[in-house]
Amino acid sequence: MTQVPSALSACAARLLCPHHGPAERTVLQATTERSLGCTQGHRFDPARQGYVNLLRGPAPAAADTAAMVAARQVVLDAGVQAELSRTLQRVVTQHPPPRVTATATATATATATEIATVTEPPLLVDVGAGTGHHTAAVLEALPDHLGVAVDVSRYAARRAARTHPRLAAVVADVWERLPVLDGTASVLLDVFAPRDPEAFARVLVPGGLLIVATPAPDHLDPLVDRLELLRVGDDKLDRLRGQLETGFTELAHERVRTEVALDRHLVRAVATMGPSAHHLDPDALMRAIDGLPEPTLVRQAVDVLVLRRDG
Ligand SMILES: C[S@@+](CC[C@H](N)C(=O)[O-])C[C@H]1O[C@@H](n2cnc3c(N)ncnc32)[C@H](O)[C@@H]1O
Ligand SMILES: [Zn+2]
Repeated sequence: MTQVPSALSACAARLLCPHHGPAERTVLQATTERSLGCTQGHRFDPARQGYVNLLRGPAPAAADTAAMVAARQVVLDAGVQAELSRTLQRVVTQHPPPRVTATATATATATATEIATVTEPPLLVDVGAGTGHHTAAVLEALPDHLGVAVDVSRYAARRAARTHPRLAAVVADVWERLPVLDGTASVLLDVFAPRDPEAFARVLVPGGLLIVATPAPDHLDPLVDRLELLRVGDDKLDRLRGQLETGFTELAHERVRTEVALDRHLVRAVATMGPSAHHLDPDALMRAIDGLPEPTLVRQAVDVLVLRRDG
């Protein structure tokens, strides 16, 4: 059995036990050195790799596979998204998250004393955090924050658990429920990941920062055409703004626009790390990659919206 990692025990009081109704808020605590649990007796032992699994059943099909996560790690380690990481760090420095006071926070059941203990230190939540690469970069820019990387893929959580000493890794399906107590996160990050504006508003403190990164239509040109990857709709940013119209105020829109030179190994990793991996025929993909120049200049085009939760 594995000891509960310190980042995980430090944020347990803000993690929701999944075995309770949607209106209930039952949080976790370290019950022994090796186990988390709730007051109703549900128990969660961290995996050997340091993450805790809060799924109630098997992972849904949307979970990234081991191969997708490994490919994403290759791409991120090569620095392909370094400009995006730097932009995320810059926006949390330019728009500092609020200092939370107990009176500014509202939760369903917690008393003021309980809230005071669960809003210090301030918390960053990364939804669909993948390997935790960008999460760790943002945590470096927020030296007083703890972080929680939430992802439905245990392969992603394994990596995220090792990425930063202040980062806890949790396996959960955010479409079931984002397993974070109401009003206890000062920053919420969502990078190329599922978005549930209601859940974002619920877990953020009033005045908390929401940072959403989404691909622009020309992201990964020319690979989208040459390799038949999934194309981003022209109206994606407008739809995102529409989703976040209620409850949030936009503070900034940052455009990450760079070109990176990728060899064929990296091109393959880019093509197989995302949702396109599910529909690509491996042989056809290899033939298409062989037909590309070496290296190929590939566009990184990502829109980053920075919003503040109203209230
Ligand atoms: C495109 S990846 C982005 C990963 C990371 N944010 C990054 O930029 O490196 C999307 C991630 O969302 C996760 N995901 C998909 N559906 C999810 C769900 N319902 N709940 C939690 N995570 C989910 C996937 O497992 C995957 O790791
Ligand atoms: Zn429970």
